[in-house]
Amino acid sequence: MSRPAPVNRVDEPLEPADGAERVLLRFLPDGTEVRVPSGTPIFDAASWNGVAIDSTCGGHGTCRKCKVQVLRGEVPVSALDPRAFSPQELREGWRLACRAPAREDVVVSVPPLQTRPKAALVGVGRHVILRPAVQKRYVELEEPTLEDQRSDVQRLLDAIDDLEPYAGLDVVRKLGRALRDAHFKVTAVIVDEELIDVEPGDTTGRRHALAFDLGTTTVVATLLDLESGQPLSVHSMLNRQQPFGADVISRISATMLDPGALEQLRDRAQETLAQLAVEACEEGGVAPEEIYEIALCGNATMMHLALGIDPEPLSMAPFVVTTHELPPTRAADFGVAVHPRAPAFVFPSLGAYVGGDIVAGMLATGLSRDKRVRLFIDVGTNSEIALGCNERVLATAAPAGPAFEAAQIRCGMRAAEGAIEGVRVEDDAIELQVIGDVEPMGLCGSGLVDCVAELVRAGLLDHSGRFVPDEDAARIAPRLSERLTKIGEERVFVLTPRGADPAESIYLSQRDVRELQFAKASIATGWTILLREYGIEPGDVQQVLLAGSFGAYLSPASAVRIGLVPRLALPRIVSAGNVAGEGAKIVLLSHRERAEAESIVREVEYVELSGRADFNDQFVDQLAFPG
Ligand code: FES
Repeated sequence: MSRPAPVNRVDEPLEPADGAERVLLRFLPDGTEVRVPSGTPIFDAASWNGVAIDSTCGGHGTCRKCKVQVLRGEVPVSALDPRAFSPQELREGWRLACRAPAREDVVVSVPPLQTRPKAALVGVGRHVILRPAVQKRYVELEEPTLEDQRSDVQRLLDAIDDLEPYAGLDVVRKLGRALRDAHFKVTAVIVDEELIDVEPGDTTGRRHALAFDLGTTTVVATLLDLESGQPLSVHSMLNRQQPFGADVISRISATMLDPGALEQLRDRAQETLAQLAVEACEEGGVAPEEIYEIALCGNATMMHLALGIDPEPLSMAPFVVTTHELPPTRAADFGVAVHPRAPAFVFPSLGAYVGGDIVAGMLATGLSRDKRVRLFIDVGTNSEIALGCNERVLATAAPAGPAFEAAQIRCGMRAAEGAIEGVRVEDDAIELQVIGDVEPMGLCGSGLVDCVAELVRAGLLDHSGRFVPDEDAARIAPRLSERLTKIGEERVFVLTPRGADPAESIYLSQRDVRELQFAKASIATGWTILLREYGIEPGDVQQVLLAGSFGAYLSPASAVRIGLVPRLALPRIVSAGNVAGEGAKIVLLSHRERAEAESIVREVEYVELSGRADFNDQFVDQLAFPG
């Protein structure tokens, strides 16, 4: 073992811990600093923050490879340390990182890796060190004799004592036969602490898991190979609950009106998940029973419905969830036919309207670990907003209504073939971008935002959101002004002229502009209040992350133009993509990351907007388009 610097070498002052509950760790030689809750094992703090410490047991305390030297601060000697270090090394501060809780500010020297851990790159550009909860161990056991009468369970557990799992009754029932049929050459399948199966022969090369993003509209399943960390197949389909309404409120209402609806909604969610599992397995060439764990993220309503939990309390003040963290569940509880004892990891919810999908998004983007103050917005009917960095994170939910999904927009449609998804005004002419390059059929959410932003930029919409008078329009943009007309009493801007009757065309109406104003004002009010609570100005935000499928198509320039996001340099506004789905993959690839998901729920401060005295004033201020 190389000898890093002695204890008194580090003499720069550390910042004090920011309160009784968090401590500051500095990792040498690269100088990475992290704040974590007091008592967090040094190993966890390092791996959550991308500092690689050697390990082959994933923090279970059995490999004794996670050796670090504490150069500053006191860390108690654990029961395992004397087995790994000499008394002299212990005096020099050497500790096993996975058994070393940080209860005060510390400086830790991390030796270079002896074994390079496998890592996988996930969709948000983040490397995750591969440490799945699903573990396999191939063992060739001594057969029992009159001299060796250990029980079958003990015999197996003795052979895999680095994992120390427990065996449930189902496994105990089959164990005797399984061992003897396989001549005591078997593979033990362990998930977290549980022995879930014993398979004949050596199956260690095949470990799989399924990540589900259970959206109100779309459900996505990703089949993961846990050996390589790579996705084998991805399938998506519309949530079969659609006939009960497009949004969560309609589905909750259905359960309040019809006592049988909850069961039907549960069944439809489960059918959707089950079908996706079948399709993902077929395409990936994986037998369903080789899937040993699933992870699910979704909003609180979707999770309640998928498990048949009454969602009514979510819909009325004071808006409480039945539970933030569910009791242990299995894939079978979600109707997913994979390995019969595969556990299900369900992302915990922060509140009724900031669900597990947002916790998954925060995990994937590292919002609560990064030093930069970032603003995370998942734009939708219910928009979730989070603001913060590794010091503090605030979150809220803003009821934006359906404008961003183009519902209740006169020529609105879903983002499907034929939808105008982009609008550009240049030299008094208009250019439309249509999904599928076909004849335009309507306007989807991103097209609506673009259209309004471009008409504000061109001067045809004023900052209050009104179409300017015809004579002003003719002066400002003579050719475009010809598209301004009326349908009945309402002024409209025609995007695709069709014949003499403007009602036959695709157009933007004055009322559509108002709908968008209400929606964007709701979100802008949300982040304005979070900024105020945080005590910072919009310019202090270092990055805006637009999450979800809508965020992926939204033009940053248009988002700034209409005031949906703070006015920042455009490179600081980025689309984060489907971060919820990425979060679900991450917890399957690394069981350490799920502890972080759980700590997000404990640490993020939820700010309730309804009932705030300043909400209405802020909302009215945010209705206008920025000048
Ligand atoms: S990580 Fe294996 S003993 Fe600490």
